[in-house]
Amino acid sequence: MKLDVVLGLQWGDEGKGKIVDFLAERYPVVARFQGGPNAGHSIHFGDTSFVLHSVPSGVFREGAVNIIGGGVVLDPTIFREECEAIEALGIPVRERVRIARRAHLIVPTHKLLDAADEASLGKSKIGSTLKGIGPAYSDKTGRNGLRVGDLEEDGFESKYETLKRKHMARLAQYDFTFPFDLEEAEAQWRKDAEYLKSFELIDAEYETNALLDGGKAILAEGAQGSMLDVDFGSYPFVTSSSTACAGACTGLGVAPARIGKVYGVFKAYCTRVGSGPFPTELGDATGELLRQRGHEFGATTGRPRRTGWLDLPALKYAVMISGVTELIMMKADVLDGFDTVKVASGYRVDGVRTDRVPYDVYAEVEPVYTTLKGWDCDLGACRSEAELPAAFKEYVAFIEREVGVPVRILSLGPDREQTIIRG
Ligand code: IMO
Ligand code: MG
Repeated sequence: MKLDVVLGLQWGDEGKGKIVDFLAERYPVVARFQGGPNAGHSIHFGDTSFVLHSVPSGVFREGAVNIIGGGVVLDPTIFREECEAIEALGIPVRERVRIARRAHLIVPTHKLLDAADEASLGKSKIGSTLKGIGPAYSDKTGRNGLRVGDLEEDGFESKYETLKRKHMARLAQYDFTFPFDLEEAEAQWRKDAEYLKSFELIDAEYETNALLDGGKAILAEGAQGSMLDVDFGSYPFVTSSSTACAGACTGLGVAPARIGKVYGVFKAYCTRVGSGPFPTELGDATGELLRQRGHEFGATTGRPRRTGWLDLPALKYAVMISGVTELIMMKADVLDGFDTVKVASGYRVDGVRTDRVPYDVYAEVEPVYTTLKGWDCDLGACRSEAELPAAFKEYVAFIEREVGVPVRILSLGPDREQTIIRG
């Protein structure tokens, strides 16, 4: 059996949660491989919706095994709150979720460091979600981190104190105060760490390989997006993990040859939260219209998202880095009713035409647009390909021609029914 991967191809918030929930029906196992509670994966059922931060989006499907892989960073308090809210819906979360011992823990001082780092950057701040993600991954690669498996060991308390001392020494270098009751947060954290420990803790690399050997297909659920990848994104305006396909291998302990399909999820337009380059950003009324119609406000932080037209150089770059085999287009219904729709098919960087994403995040990048005919129709009401308007079909065909990968799924609204599988 293969490990299939779902990835965001833009700057996050592409709709990965809905797609994983939709695809989870065909996969007995869903696994998160990177990121942490900076993620906000929204799933809609009828009139209600639920936002997942750490728990894989397969949790709402009966019988599914959900694995939180070793590449993830977990905040026990956010995890406990999330699990309790899932349980309140009548879902036996403890039966459905297993956690890798190798996953790293976010401690309260990671959040303080995240806030202090951001404050010290002033205007050039990253726009972090302030969940402690950067500091937790820094401790991981700096070989200081605490792992979930450490909770089972006798020396945990002294490891925790050592880490906290290092953090406090760093914090003392900042001229920074933050309204945060560290003692209270720590007391809560300890209780929540016990809660987390009561879940099934696993050596996830053995478990994932054994599941595949035993004939169970795994769907790996990416968080964030390719343009936020720590290596290939718009560094330093990125998150601190490998959001591209390769991250699924390191985050779950699965070899590259075991990867099957790579589903790339993208919105029919673009959004970005936080700072950093966004060539097709619209600061005008059209951008505001996209924000309102698309409900483009952060699921984790509530921040208004920056909005703009679809960016094909960035999309092609993401497809190349991850070897995307099928595209999944989200939220095209948000573009309903426009006379014309624009797509950046290239850039002009310092006056020179290119279709490459520039290394320099401060370069002057001017999108070169192709204008396509709009459609005046309610895409959200379409249930089959035959019902789709010709102009929208041409929009999809144009993207397929440019990117060279087929669009297999069209999502035209938040509900499971508003999803069309093609060909
Ligand atoms: P999902 O999984 C959109 C952005 C932040 C910031 C940068 C670094 O819901 O798509 P971090 O807290 O990771 O240090 O922030 O990355 N960011 C996201 N943007 N969706 C996300 O997750 C994001 N997770 C982080 O806004 O610009
Ligand atoms: Mg999100």
